Amino acid sequence: MSIPKTKTAYLETYGCQMNEYDSELVKTILTKAGYEFVLSPNTADVVMLNTCSVRDNANRKVYNRVHTLRQSRTTEAPFKVGILGCMATNIRKDLLEDRSLKIDFIAGPDSYKKLPDLISTGFESGEKTFNLTLSEFETYSDVYPTREGGVNAWIAIMRGCNNYCTFCVVPHTRGRERSREPESVVDEVKRLVDEGFTQVTLLGQNVNSYHANDTDFAGLLEKVSDVPGIKRIRYTSPHPKDFPRHLLQLMADRDNICNQIHMPLQAGNNRVLEMMNRTYTKEEFYDLVAEARETIPNLKMTTDIIVGFPTETDAEFEETFEVMERVEFDSAYIFKYSERKNTLAARKFPDDVPEAMKTERIVRLNDLQKIVSLKRNQAQIGEVQDILIESLSTKRDTNMATGRNAGNVLVLVPNEGRRVGEYTNATITEATPNVLRGIVS
Ligand code: 5AD
Ligand code: SF4
Repeated sequence: MSIPKTKTAYLETYGCQMNEYDSELVKTILTKAGYEFVLSPNTADVVMLNTCSVRDNANRKVYNRVHTLRQSRTTEAPFKVGILGCMATNIRKDLLEDRSLKIDFIAGPDSYKKLPDLISTGFESGEKTFNLTLSEFETYSDVYPTREGGVNAWIAIMRGCNNYCTFCVVPHTRGRERSREPESVVDEVKRLVDEGFTQVTLLGQNVNSYHANDTDFAGLLEKVSDVPGIKRIRYTSPHPKDFPRHLLQLMADRDNICNQIHMPLQAGNNRVLEMMNRTYTKEEFYDLVAEARETIPNLKMTTDIIVGFPTETDAEFEETFEVMERVEFDSAYIFKYSERKNTLAARKFPDDVPEAMKTERIVRLNDLQKIVSLKRNQAQIGEVQDILIESLSTKRDTNMATGRNAGNVLVLVPNEGRRVGEYTNATITEATPNVLRGIVS
């Protein structure tokens, strides 16, 4: 098959914010190579899925999508299908050998600059092409992402991960940790301000281990905070094991660093935390939370939890319940343990907590969190908050605009007179576990 004259591409993204950011990089790289991005796979020469393999359900979603795409491929629309992202690295053998999948090209997270070549070589030869090499240096700092709308800009400040939590596939799919130079991050933030963005979220698998040109994460945050015109800075995710205390102070001192931390706990029992290789204890986590709340007034804190890690007993699970009850996170993402190929947990620990027990545990934690989130949200009733407007309607109500307060909680306000991207003061009048409602004051 020859290379089509007008090359069109279509891209779907699964998984985390880092993947969203990577898709923006891929758009820039392919646009420079002459591709035009379209909104439907049926009008594309090349269809790409930027994939996630953090849990099995993310994997399955992509397999199903590939099969559906294959069925919709016709002689009139014979698009090529490519797999990008974390699944690409993690299941390279299956993807390459499973002929029924009919994947045409595969690119891992460090190979996106090679995409134009991979695709065109495949068109010329009709063969599968792939590049899954993980780099110790690639940070894509020379690629400016193609962002589409929205009021928040993601910026990856580092890539990869060296932590090796035993459940986690990321060090295997994204490779060694490397940080981007602070100057290049600051330049990107300045350019974003020129484009009209006022909020940025700095991304890294563990932002606390950011280090480049004698600058640590707090140093980088300070430089970003100094950029004129930047009003809200968020970041995700830090690791409780090495959360620097001077970072808390910086957050307290700077108005434009949001008083919000996503602090992944994962489990509340010390034996399980050790098996997870998290390298902190429940007691250390309590201390960190206390210090964070003491230093930063009105701090909002969210977390990630895994239930049913191998060998987790009922009593050990109860400790996670207790920690969540005591800490009172504003919200929590709670997952059932999902065994991932290549991880230490998969090699060493049998996935022995029965599915029904995992379900029971996740339901209990979700029920608890609902009550806690409602309480935390109700405590905000009567406050006057600064809301950054994100959208002028909700799915259910065309009269309500949505936005977020500094703590990242969703707030609905009447949309009359509102504009996307503006900041507006609202008095909070109602609360549910997931959302606040307010009137513009
Ligand atoms: N099983 C379940 N949850 C996982 N996470 C990461 N790996 C797994 C796994 N194997 C969760 C962690 C992490 C979040 C991004 O996904 O809670 O913080
Ligand atoms: Fe993101 Fe992890 Fe999923 Fe990769 S595996 S897309 S890093 S959540």
